[in-house]
Amino acid sequence: MTRISALLATFLLSSTYILGVAGINEYLTVSNVPKPSTCGNSGVLPAGGWIANKRCGYVMGTAVSGQRFDVEATDSSGYHYGRYRGTGGNFCTFLVPSSMNLSTKTSVSSSCSSTTQSALCNRQHFGKDFDSPPHQGDGAIVIPLNLSGCSGFYNYFIDSTFQTGKYQDPVPFSMATVSSGGYRYSTLDGQASMIRATVPEYGQVLWFFVPRSCIASQLPSVLNNDGGDGC
Ligand SMILES: *[C@@H]1O[C@H](CO)[C@@H](O)[C@H](O)[C@H]1NC(C)=O
Ligand SMILES: *[C@@H]1O[C@H](CO)[C@@H](O)[C@H](O)[C@H]1NC(C)=O
Repeated sequence: MTRISALLATFLLSSTYILGVAGINEYLTVSNVPKPSTCGNSGVLPAGGWIANKRCGYVMGTAVSGQRFDVEATDSSGYHYGRYRGTGGNFCTFLVPSSMNLSTKTSVSSSCSSTTQSALCNRQHFGKDFDSPPHQGDGAIVIPLNLSGCSGFYNYFIDSTFQTGKYQDPVPFSMATVSSGGYRYSTLDGQASMIRATVPEYGQVLWFFVPRSCIASQLPSVLNNDGGDGC
């Protein structure tokens, strides 16, 4: 081997090595995040940005302020795909724009695959018993709920299998005062339900989990389990 080709080989090997372990960026999440205007929303999310199954998809929780998010990819609308490292678990998901403090950048290893990214697009990957078929409902109140006596939690999922979870991040507002409740879907283990409600303390419609047992008697006997939706 000539000296030149030896140098070239060394260079190629080190570039491969660097590419192989290349870090992605991790940031701390912030509060008072604007709801995504790219999805036609307006208003503010006081606790932190929504996490979702895709751009403008189903809300899967809240990236509460002071937690971490590892950015795998960012699309042209500012939505991020990556790992949310929350209070009681961490998993691959999407995050609405403007949810992170860009001054807190650190380098971490990539840990969310494009396979998981694609799998998430099908709502059957994380939920069941939806209020509507795919691309219907979209935040309207299809199944009204009285949330009196229910506890609310910003998060439930714990890992990227989305098979089960545990309640995390109890909502800090009074559940006794919320109105205009609406049901969206339940988790695959049947324990938690994602709901929307108007929160007068914040003057905002927010999405969060309540125990399904608290609202079960108000749900219709037939809910929607159509799937097969892609990104
Ligand atoms: C963002 O992080 C920097 C560095 O830690 C900090 O000084 C600043 O206050 C943070 N800003 C917000 C809005 O949290
Ligand atoms: C909601 O349920 C509670 C408890 O059953 C009841 O007192 C209240 O009147 C209900 N609210 C509405 C708007 O129906």
